Amino acid sequence: MHLSVVGCGYVGLVTGACLAEAGHDVVCTDIDEKRIAQLQAGEVPIYEHHLDKILESALKAGKISYTSDAGDAIRKGDAIFICVGTPPKENGDADLSAIDHVARQIATEARSSKLVIEKSTVPARTGLELRRALTAYSRNSGLTFRVASNPEFLREGTAVSDFFHPDRIVVGVEDENSARDMREIYRPILERSFRCPVHNGTCPAGSAVDLLITTINSAELIKHASNSFLALKISYANVIADLCEKIGANVEEVTHAMGLDPRIGTQFLRAGLGFGGFCFPKDLQAFIHLAGTVGVDFDILKAAERVNKQRIDKFFDKVRQALWVIKGKRVAVLGLAFKANTDDIRFSPALEVVRELLRQGAQVQASDPEAISRSKTLYPAVAYHEDPYDALQGAEAALVCTEWDVFQDLDWERAGKLMARRLVIDGRNLYSPARMRELGFEYYSFGRE
Ligand code: UDX
Repeated sequence: MHLSVVGCGYVGLVTGACLAEAGHDVVCTDIDEKRIAQLQAGEVPIYEHHLDKILESALKAGKISYTSDAGDAIRKGDAIFICVGTPPKENGDADLSAIDHVARQIATEARSSKLVIEKSTVPARTGLELRRALTAYSRNSGLTFRVASNPEFLREGTAVSDFFHPDRIVVGVEDENSARDMREIYRPILERSFRCPVHNGTCPAGSAVDLLITTINSAELIKHASNSFLALKISYANVIADLCEKIGANVEEVTHAMGLDPRIGTQFLRAGLGFGGFCFPKDLQAFIHLAGTVGVDFDILKAAERVNKQRIDKFFDKVRQALWVIKGKRVAVLGLAFKANTDDIRFSPALEVVRELLRQGAQVQASDPEAISRSKTLYPAVAYHEDPYDALQGAEAALVCTEWDVFQDLDWERAGKLMARRLVIDGRNLYSPARMRELGFEYYSFGRE
């Protein structure tokens, strides 16, 4: 099939690349001409495992192309994926102006009827508004536009693998033809008839993927409901951690035992500095806002948001308890990205720690395998080190903020010799408290003694 992707941000690039790798002809467009020029030159503007490899092979095979001529891209596609950003507005609602702009472009540039697919994360009922807008903007063209909602559940760091090995593919449609077309688009993944770039063709056996056909409203709600529930799980684990600290229990023992109940599940119960990234915080806000507009008070999600916001304060209670005075202290921060395996620093809890340390007058020495260059623009006062041991040199405390493997595997015996004081405050519960104390460290973490 000929597919168009409008918006070459994170979701658009991963979607376009994976659909091209799966055998479709894909043309991508973006209003950012510099980004299109980068992509045409084979440069990949984001850090994501395997993405550069599959974009390169798809470009070589002529399966993917890029243009800043949106009209040309729109006309080339039988189906058009809208992957533009829907950032939060002041009131928490999602800003849909970019989607509206693309709707006008499609309605005025298309020369044949199209299937228009929402891939961006949007509040429920957006698809119906989009169809109404397409009809209004294309009044005299005689063309018809069908709308489908196809939310993504890609996690940064594993997005390519998540695309080829999804837990489910959700498709919200209004008619059989759209369901048939969506099935055709995902046929290679449903039939596993693709050469997996992650497992080099030897994918682990797994259950067949379901294509869930729903209404458009349900599909949109599924995305917000899923992300908000995962955020709720994390905040629940964090309150359990606070309880464990007060009662003298171990949050990992508690959440592990909880998770063995398949009705609960072991994933997303890791206590720590809380969730960040460009999805959970904004999707939570947008979902709470959406519910409010129809008179549903999503109290439990407001609580999850509040708990998450308080993680940084709870962390600094530990830092103050350990360091007494923060001002003038040389502090090593291990991790800047909002989570491991990404260079993304949007809504990163680690950067909130950096901001608070700077506000309190500490000398910050930071290290991160991928997110230093993006952090430098925001916090030039920080001393950045590619090598974490350089960041630990002479430090009076080490604050662990992102769960990178490189920090998990640190040699703390060596680090202890470099530091001015063997003090670690672990915001991601990476180490064994007993082992760290054996090595002579003062060690603090969440929900563990
Ligand atoms: C998330 C959803 O997982 C994905 O399905 C959706 O499409 C986009 O949003 P992502 O934002 O990449 O993906 O990150 P994720 O791996 O979900 O982690 C989110 C945040 O929660 C990170 O800050 C992570 O550190 C934190 N987290 C995760 C915890 O604090 N504890 C956990 O147990 C799991």
